[in-house]
Amino acid sequence: MTDFLGLAADIAREAGDMLLAKRPARPEAVQTKSSQTDVVTALDHASEELIRARIREARPDDAVLGEEGGEIGDGRVRWLVDPIDGTVNFMYGLPDWAVSVAVEVDGEIVAGVVNVPTRGELFSARKGGGAELLRAGAPPERLACNTGVPLPQALIATGFGYLPERRVVQGEVLARLISRVRDIRRRGSAAVDLCSVAAGQVDAFYERGLMPWDLAAGGLIASEAGARLGGLRGRPHSGDFVVCAAPGLFEDLHDLLVPLDPDRDA
Ligand code: IPD
Ligand code: CA
Ligand code: CA
Repeated sequence: MTDFLGLAADIAREAGDMLLAKRPARPEAVQTKSSQTDVVTALDHASEELIRARIREARPDDAVLGEEGGEIGDGRVRWLVDPIDGTVNFMYGLPDWAVSVAVEVDGEIVAGVVNVPTRGELFSARKGGGAELLRAGAPPERLACNTGVPLPQALIATGFGYLPERRVVQGEVLARLISRVRDIRRRGSAAVDLCSVAAGQVDAFYERGLMPWDLAAGGLIASEAGARLGGLRGRPHSGDFVVCAAPGLFEDLHDLLVPLDPDRDA
């Protein structure tokens, strides 16, 4: 049987090494997508091509859903790939960008890897097997999210989508939230945000409008580190909305968010 986690880690490592080696001083946007701020560099494409080639070599019958190349295949096993999560950071030379690779079997994410090459950090999780952080030259570190944090002391990560109308709502929600919590972080990569919850570097994360490839690997890593993930008003987490925090803080943050109607149209 394929060691999905091992294969995903090898692939995410190779893509991360390639990106570090080939990243020019100032990568340029070669294309815009949903809005003028939603940009793609040549290396987003190169990273996804490399990842797809490696999956094809090892597992030719698997389906792949990647941000830049869409969905190919329809097997029971599907790979979810964000070739660079945090492209804007990548363009500006900021450290928080990641290669995110997850494996889904029969609709359930079973393995996930988030490689943050600039920091030499590889986050990974296997369904039911816990989450860990590998740093070069150090023993693997078992991850556990922060617990027992009251909302007023919580450090909360979030992000903004690329559509200007949606950002207006996201800004309004943030303006109401910030006086009720310790502080806010906007690191620029949803995958890194979810791993930051797993590693206790922030206490919670929420965002509207993420895509499956943003959430798949980081979501598994956070939940295997003890975090609860969910949507609003009892719904499961999805691209519509995700809240991620240890139980207790999850409910408090959720209950603060719901009256602010954070999933409303502008
Ligand atoms: C984006 C990042 C960002 C989040 C956006 C995502 P990309 O992914 O994860 O943190 O706020 O919603 O689209 O475009 O850099 O792959
Ligand atoms: Ca992304
Ligand atoms: Ca991306």
